[in-house]
Amino acid sequence: MSTTFKTSERFVDEMVDERCTVDKSKSFYDKPTIRTWRIDPGVDPAINQKSMEYLARLEEVRSLIGNTPLLQVDFSYRGKRRTLFAKAEYYNLSGSIKDRMAFHILKKAYLSGALKPGAMIAEATSGNAGIAFAALGSMLRHPVTIFLPDWMSEERKNLLRSYGANLRLVSHEEGGFLGSIALAEDMHEKDPDVFLPRQFDNTDNCEAHYLFTGPEILAQMQRLNRVPTTFVAGVGTGGTVMGIGRAIRAVNPQATIHPMEPSNSPTLSTGYKTGAHRIQGISDEFIPSIVHLNELDSIVQVDDGDAIIMAQKLSRNLGLGVGISSGANFIAALKLLESMPEQQAASASVVTVFVDDNKKYLSADYAKEEPIKPGYLSPDVELTNVLAVR
Ligand SMILES: Cc1ncc(COP(=O)(O)O)c(C=O)c1O
Repeated sequence: MSTTFKTSERFVDEMVDERCTVDKSKSFYDKPTIRTWRIDPGVDPAINQKSMEYLARLEEVRSLIGNTPLLQVDFSYRGKRRTLFAKAEYYNLSGSIKDRMAFHILKKAYLSGALKPGAMIAEATSGNAGIAFAALGSMLRHPVTIFLPDWMSEERKNLLRSYGANLRLVSHEEGGFLGSIALAEDMHEKDPDVFLPRQFDNTDNCEAHYLFTGPEILAQMQRLNRVPTTFVAGVGTGGTVMGIGRAIRAVNPQATIHPMEPSNSPTLSTGYKTGAHRIQGISDEFIPSIVHLNELDSIVQVDDGDAIIMAQKLSRNLGLGVGISSGANFIAALKLLESMPEQQAASASVVTVFVDDNKKYLSADYAKEEPIKPGYLSPDVELTNVLAVR
């Protein structure tokens, strides 16, 4: 456990991406000349030259993504003093953790030649990924088409439109989430230049978190004299839990890594969609191919009402305006602490992510009074303090 992690994305990138050479005689602010990328041989030289320009443009906005704060949240649960750690991912460019995978997938796609300069980017998404691709697409001058189940929040739809994305809403009758994926594939089949990030199957999604989010967490925890012992995160594509989990295990092989799912719709446990739930962004009707449950520890289930009350409490009592899946991640982390013997719980370093902020949920049940039901943990949580480290 002696590995030292540096928070700088540049450090990690230089370390792991052998296709990048960095001119160390130039200062960090001399971008974009600081980096030279080697695009895969075989890519048409004319496209190669243009892709270099797009890669340079990506570099110019790199500092808008990642290097988010890590929060230490102190609270009591039924009189017991507890602490958990959460990466505040709503500080990213478009307001969610998804900017990281969008940035990384686009970078890798320019390098492989899969994404041609100026080509259409099309993705099926329950919201945040689409918003991330729409924002980066707008910055890089790519048209973006998003296939979105029509029951997602109005804020998500309007945000996508505000970033200039073409929005194609998909109804339950058209197949919902799976129908959205099929429509994106269809678009690519008709025009092979349309780039599909395919976030549910693309291992670059996990890699973004393995190379960046995970090492940042490890470095920030190190600054608090901690090593993560437990990590838990809700599963949409699974990129977050797989990538951060692998990075944490590289430093602490004993760490347990837990996926979280809504108890109202336990897709991971059953393998298929079983019911409606209100934790937008996770449990999308199927188990994505990048999720390897055999690498993970027990699945934690959270009731969506409990998640809503917890998210409301984080905002009201601690000033942390987070979304519903962040409330769910908090409850999941608490459930794991509750499953430990007292001495272990008191010293455990349980880490999770606050995926996005509350602004996308102001037309959802988040902004309403949520009834307390038996079995909820949130009513017995008293939030006491938050400490942030960069
Ligand atoms: C609000 C929210 N929470 C959690 C997740 C899950 O993240 P991942 O796709 O990395 O599993 C997503 C994914 O879009 C999301 O939008």
